Amino acid sequence: MKKINPNINKAKTIDSEFYYSNDIFETNKENLFVKTWQFVCDNSKVKNTDQSYPYEFMEGFIDDPLLLTNQNGNIFSMSNVCTHRGNILIKKPCNIKNGITCRYHGRRFNSAGEFLSMPKCEGIENFPSKKDNLQKLPCRIWKQFVFSSITPKINFKSFIKDMDERVGWMPIEKFIFSKERSKEYIINANWALYCDNYLEGFHIPFVHKGLSQVLNYADYDTEIFKYSNLQLGVGKENEELFEIPKTSIDYGKKIAAYYFWLFPNIMFNFYPWGLSINIVTPLEPKKTKVNFLSYIWDESKLNSGAGASLDKVEQEDEEIVEDVQRGVKSRYYSKGQFSPSMEKGVHHFHQLLSKFI
Ligand code: FES
Ligand SMILES: [Fe+2]
Repeated sequence: MKKINPNINKAKTIDSEFYYSNDIFETNKENLFVKTWQFVCDNSKVKNTDQSYPYEFMEGFIDDPLLLTNQNGNIFSMSNVCTHRGNILIKKPCNIKNGITCRYHGRRFNSAGEFLSMPKCEGIENFPSKKDNLQKLPCRIWKQFVFSSITPKINFKSFIKDMDERVGWMPIEKFIFSKERSKEYIINANWALYCDNYLEGFHIPFVHKGLSQVLNYADYDTEIFKYSNLQLGVGKENEELFEIPKTSIDYGKKIAAYYFWLFPNIMFNFYPWGLSINIVTPLEPKKTKVNFLSYIWDESKLNSGAGASLDKVEQEDEEIVEDVQRGVKSRYYSKGQFSPSMEKGVHHFHQLLSKFI
């Protein structure tokens, strides 16, 4: 991928081909996504020792079957595929105190994924070896959230640090998941177009008339970190705002929303009512799944401020992003420029992409 000019005044966006090419889409699995940190779930799924939770790494895209488990408070991830013939070992969340037995030919593993036994294997040479254990994968926890990776290229601390320092004062561990307020959206557009749109507030007065009544567009700002960035939604008077503690560098500011983006496809949106996590999963070059997961802090603030009507805002975004998807394919479009004041986040995203790929 061509380098993106670090000078935003001179820079051009990534080639439009990125948004529709099948080849680029496929190669992004290995040259980008397996190296990133991905959100798995919150730790309530593996609260007790030996509780296990099967999941697929980037379900619908990479689909590697993995198993999250807890060993004496230590949460880790490992392959959920039998090392004999590749059968899936665990299909539903369960307790693996008595180990794991493969239902195909009876191979057994202990709860840490180490090979224990296998019937009828007398005579196999060099057996068992380390390769017969279930491979462990990198897994990290932030607050109550579990992330995993396959071959991470980014140190988890540098990935999460800036968000942690900024909003770590909120009682995030105590936020409660709300199934009713969580939703999955399917968008007919490339995953990176969806992220581009998220990363700029430039379009708010044009696309989101309702939201622009609440946010103070003139004070809307983007801060760039190493692997994440923050759009600070500054609220108008009388809107629902955060009560920010003196210890925060934002003390005294009228903040209605913290929009954090974590490279390349995760969004943590904090509102006075709590947190909306958006997980963007590529499905096809022009098809993307976005999961909105809601974690409630203060239910009484749910219907006001920048964090109200998220569904309406999402539909407005989808409509425009789907139009752009059709536009980028045009023979009369190949790349564009960035607004230096309003599109710092998109420029940051494109720079990171070009560094990774
Ligand atoms: S596939 Fe698991 S024992 Fe054969
Ligand atoms: Fe938007």
